[in-house]
Parts: sequence; C-alpha cells; structure tokens
Amino acid sequence: MSIPLWLMDAVEERSSLHSPKKLALAYSVLNKTYKDNRATSVASSENDLFWDAYLAARFPATYGAVEKALDEIPQSILAKIQTVLDIGTGTGAAVFAMAQALSQKITFTCLDQEAQSQEIMDFLWQKSPYEDNFAFHWMNCDIQKGLPQSLETYDAVVCSYTLGETNSIQKILEDAWNKTRHIFILIEPGTMPGFSIIKKAREFLCSQGAFIAAPCPHNDPCPMEHGNWCHFSARIPRSSCMRKIKGGELGYEDEKFSYCAFVRESIDCPSARILRHPQIHGGHVSLQLCTKQGIQDCLVSKKNSQYKKARKSSWGDSWDMP
Ligand SMILES: C[S@@+](CC[C@H](N)C(=O)[O-])C[C@H]1O[C@@H](n2cnc3c(N)ncnc32)[C@H](O)[C@@H]1O
Repeated sequence: MSIPLWLMDAVEERSSLHSPKKLALAYSVLNKTYKDNRATSVASSENDLFWDAYLAARFPATYGAVEKALDEIPQSILAKIQTVLDIGTGTGAAVFAMAQALSQKITFTCLDQEAQSQEIMDFLWQKSPYEDNFAFHWMNCDIQKGLPQSLETYDAVVCSYTLGETNSIQKILEDAWNKTRHIFILIEPGTMPGFSIIKKAREFLCSQGAFIAAPCPHNDPCPMEHGNWCHFSARIPRSSCMRKIKGGELGYEDEKFSYCAFVRESIDCPSARILRHPQIHGGHVSLQLCTKQGIQDCLVSKKNSQYKKARKSSWGDSWDMP
C-alpha cells in the first residue's frame, strides 16, 4: 500500500489530540459494533473521539482497500475520471486513495450525514500537497432520503464501507447508478454480510444494464456457492500509533474487503480472477480461479509456459486462461 507520508503524518497529528489509551478504548467500542454487525459505527458516534479513533485505526485500512480495487480497474476507464461523487465519505479514504492513484485533475463531491466528516476532510485536505490539481466539495446529506437534487452526473461514483450502515440499499444503488457516467465502485468489508451486499448489488445493477470492470471475469450470475464469499486482501503497514490503539505487535495487518466496479459500456474482461492465495507446491502452482465457466481449481505445472507467472501471482490478480 502506498499511503503517502504527508497523509500518514496528518492522521497521526490528528490522533495526537487524544491519548492512545482513549483512542484504544473508543476503537474497541467501534470494533465491537462492527463485529456485532450493528449498523452503528461512526455514523452514530457524535463524539469527536470516535471519529478520530476511526481515522487512526480504520482510515489506513479502507484507504488500502480502495487503492487495491483501483489497481484492478483498466487504465482506459480510470483515465476518463475528472469528477467523482463519494457517497458516505467519512474520513475520506476513497477520496485520498483516488487522488493518489489518478494523475489527472479531479473534482470530488463528498456526501455524508455527519459534520465530523467535513471537519476531518478539511483538516486532511489542508495538509495535502494538492493545490490546484484536485478540489473537493462536501455536502451534508442523508443518503437514505435520496441524493440531493442539485447533483449532476459524475465520471465516477464511489461508495466504500457505507451501504452496510444503511437500510435502503437498493434505493441508494439506484441513485448511485443514475449519477454514474462511466464507473461505479462499490466496496464493503470482506465478510459474509459485506459480500452479500456486493452480490445483491451485482445482480441488481447487471439487471439494469451495467457491465463489470472488476473483479469478475464475466457478467453472468455470480458462481460463488452459498456459505462462501468472494473477498480480497490489502496489506496495510501499521504505524506505532495503530499498534498502540489495536494492541497488536505486528508491523502490518491484512484488510479483507469485497468489491465490484460497474461500467456503462462492455469492456474486455480478463478471462479469470484468482480467488485465494496461490499454493506453491514442488512441481506446480495451484490456483483457485473464477472463470466464465464457474469456479475452477487450476494446476499450473513446471512444464506450463505460465508457470513463472503463476509463482509470482497473488490473490486478487487477474489471470489469462490459455
Ligand atoms: C464506515 S464509514 C466509511 C467511510 C469511508 N467511505 C471509508 O471508506 O472509510 C461510513 C460512513 O457513511 C456515513 N453514513 C452512514 N449512513 C449514512 C446516511 N444515511 N447518509 C449519509 N451518510 C451516511 C457515515 O457517517 C460514515 O461517515
């Protein structure tokens, strides 16, 4: 993950408003609400401390998930993006990850129902080196009541780690898709409930004429069987502040996420997606792949011309079937 130094410094500066002990306590409360799968989290936390705990403990992880999803979207689509609508901006992970990944000039419109989101976005933005190449507008909005009438359409619409906090998923998806000119990127936690939102969104938006840009190698019904879930992983370096808050020793954590990027026009999909960590054995590499023909286990032996590529491949990469 390539979260820029100025952004990590800004997050740490903001976190230093509270003692690590207070942040750790607030994070443990937040974490429990997520684990209990209660739709509360930051959205109902009026206390600034909870927002700063989310920023310190979760922002790097959701930033990493967005960055990893963007990596899998064809450059030809990313190059078209000049305007972005971020639905459920929170502390701005999607905005900053997109600003970092895209080199063209971009205007972001950020929607959230909580004023702390704007306050933190302003704080981080002021620390950024972006000057004229990016701009952002923040709007207060309860996305369950419909998106503001004044909104036009946007080259890209993004909604990360937000739909799961709402009770009007289909309405928000409809609104988001109506506002999408080229691409709609939906990201949720890499859990069974998170994937179930992605799967339903995939079914619904494909029925509305959307095509999938990533990760699926086709637009047919998702072949993931009941009880299993499609998700990916982003490795996030843990700062000493994050280690103190989360109580871990490791210098990194793996953020699991599910996502789907929908586009308006059909594009050439890769022929397969790697669904698990590749298993490297003595004479072969074993890959679990999602393909146009369903989920398949594929053995790439030393004799195969793709063997070297298979050894270097990772969970979440695209894969070309011969
Ligand atoms: C878990 S945070 C995710 C923030 C950010 N997108 C990220 O990836 O880190 C969810 C955000 O959605 C916002 N949110 C939840 N329900 C909302 C609603 N009905 N209307 C507007 N914003 C909402 C919350 O205030 C919170 O900022």
